[in-house]
Amino acid sequence: MFENRVLSGMRPTGALHFGHYHGVLKNWVKLQHEHQCLFFVADWHALTTHYDDPATIGNHAWDMVVDWLAAGVDPAQATLFIQSKVPEHAELHLLLSMITPLSWLERVPTYKDQQEKLSEKDLATYGFLGYPLLQSADILIYRANLVPVGEDQVPHVEITREIARRFNHVFGRETGFEEKAEIAIKKLGAKRGKLYRKLRTDYLEKGDGDALASARSLLEESQNLPLGDRERLFGYIEGGGKVILTEPKALLTEASKMPGLDGQKMSKSYNNTIRLRETPENVSKKVKTMPTDPARVKRTDPGDPQKCPVWQLHLIYSDDAKKKWVQEGCRSAGIGCIECKQPVIDAIIAEQKPMRERAERYLDDPTLVRNIIADGCEKARKHAQETLRDVREVMGLDYSL
Ligand code: TRP
Ligand code: SF4
Repeated sequence: MFENRVLSGMRPTGALHFGHYHGVLKNWVKLQHEHQCLFFVADWHALTTHYDDPATIGNHAWDMVVDWLAAGVDPAQATLFIQSKVPEHAELHLLLSMITPLSWLERVPTYKDQQEKLSEKDLATYGFLGYPLLQSADILIYRANLVPVGEDQVPHVEITREIARRFNHVFGRETGFEEKAEIAIKKLGAKRGKLYRKLRTDYLEKGDGDALASARSLLEESQNLPLGDRERLFGYIEGGGKVILTEPKALLTEASKMPGLDGQKMSKSYNNTIRLRETPENVSKKVKTMPTDPARVKRTDPGDPQKCPVWQLHLIYSDDAKKKWVQEGCRSAGIGCIECKQPVIDAIIAEQKPMRERAERYLDDPTLVRNIIADGCEKARKHAQETLRDVREVMGLDYSL
């Protein structure tokens, strides 16, 4: 059993590039071996800003999933799904909206930033304001505790924590909570019950964070405790009521070190990308036409790697000996730029090779990809429905027809 549950989503932007690979996907591939992971296509999120371009969503989604698989995201390790195919996200979003103060949404930095940046679009919409809350629902519905995101997304994880706390505070109170918690402790058995009490006291009286963590893992391990009791005891460690929704933590992903062909950040909108499934000929052509240190007009002019985007690529792909070769050769005009670029071209093509091989299967037989996603959606829905059942119950919606 994994202790942590990781969840992350990506908006369907179509074919991915090396910026995505070195920034996000490599990290996902690593995480899938360490934790239980769920990764999804955030197609509803795409609509919040691109509602006027619905035709591209489907193709973009499938292209992106193929690139996840090409990069080594493994459906046997991680659950892969599409947000809109798990409609429970929408119900939780609606239910959470009942307790979300408008001011919390208005002060999320991306709200104003994006409106200014995408000023040609009308983003004064209800859906766009609710973007971070939809993201909260994505996270909370899986009770994920770790959310790998870039720096720009940290405020969204932060608001998710606040929403979870508020939700637990408003709906986690039940009459006779303390008595019920005490009965639940007895169900842990004498030894574990005693340990639980000690850890709880250490946390409540001394603020001992390790005790809090130990008490939580003790509960994680107590598999045969009924779910309601488990939630009660999670909440009881900290004094309050039941913990229905889990507060997640952001797992900060380092920014991609892969620059674009012009030295700026690699981004589709700057038109400076190398796609993961770019043909080798294109890779070669694109790198060969990259600008270099402008001081090197003639082959005999010395240059400075610091002023050259190709050097940034050497930093990613070259070993020390090769880097020394670049530094010395550039500064002394001992090597030409074409010569300098070749090892980078070779390294990118080599890095692509296993990706191209993996992608081939899926491109030849798209039903494989559909099946992976169908399977992932089904698994995701099971988790989502479990959480939603608890949420409906505490919100008074568990009555039947
Ligand atoms: N907002 C994220 C982005 O633009 C995508 C996203 C949607 C997400 N829901 C999420 C990321 C839940 C992490 C967890 O990159
Ligand atoms: Fe850039 Fe290499 Fe040319 Fe120097 S030799 S300017 S590092 S491409």
